[in-house]
Amino acid sequence: MRRLLRFVFLGLLLAGIAIQFVPVKDIGSNPPERFVVDAPPQVAAILRRSCFDCHSNETRWPLYSRIAPGSWLMARDVHRGRNHLNFSEWGDADEEERQDDLESCWDEVAAGEMPPVQYLYPFHMSAKLSDSDKALLKAFFLKNAANPGEKQPDTAKAQADEKPAATP
Ligand code: HEC
Repeated sequence: MRRLLRFVFLGLLLAGIAIQFVPVKDIGSNPPERFVVDAPPQVAAILRRSCFDCHSNETRWPLYSRIAPGSWLMARDVHRGRNHLNFSEWGDADEEERQDDLESCWDEVAAGEMPPVQYLYPFHMSAKLSDSDKALLKAFFLKNAANPGEKQPDTAKAQADEKPAATP
């Protein structure tokens, strides 16, 4: 029994070492484009803390984000996150694109989808958005929105769904 356990342990250890050599695209990579988002300092700080790791070229890559298999998940999130929205490449976007980005940012934050939960626990608890963070983000994301009140399809839909049910 002890020999078996020792065998299993050794196997796991070797596997753990071996997977460190699997090449992963994008790990530790921060492409050169930079862009300074025109936001009040408090908002800029929240974006940097809670969004920039996946939506900019200024990703922090601490040691634990480089150790497999966590590194695979991190690289995947960063790769997909940047593909959807990369603030560092905003220099190439026109006003309309930026406006669209900002409004979808609020949709994601309001829905509690961003930052993603798997990112928060356990290493990035400080990226969690407090209510006051969300209020600041909302004001910034929707400051130029045409119809800020209409940017909540879920509530609007819920109300619309309720009415016909109440009147037979
Ligand atoms: C752990 C990495 C990570 C962090 C941190 C993060 N995101 Fe994302 N984000 C993603 C990924 C991955 C996607 C792609 C959508 C998906 O597959 O879930 C995404 C998609 C988005 C989208 C696009 C949605 C769409 O349909 O195109 C917006 C907008 C967004 N995120 C905003 C934010 C904001 C704002 C923050 C900070 C409050 C944030 N994200 C933090 C990884 C992240």
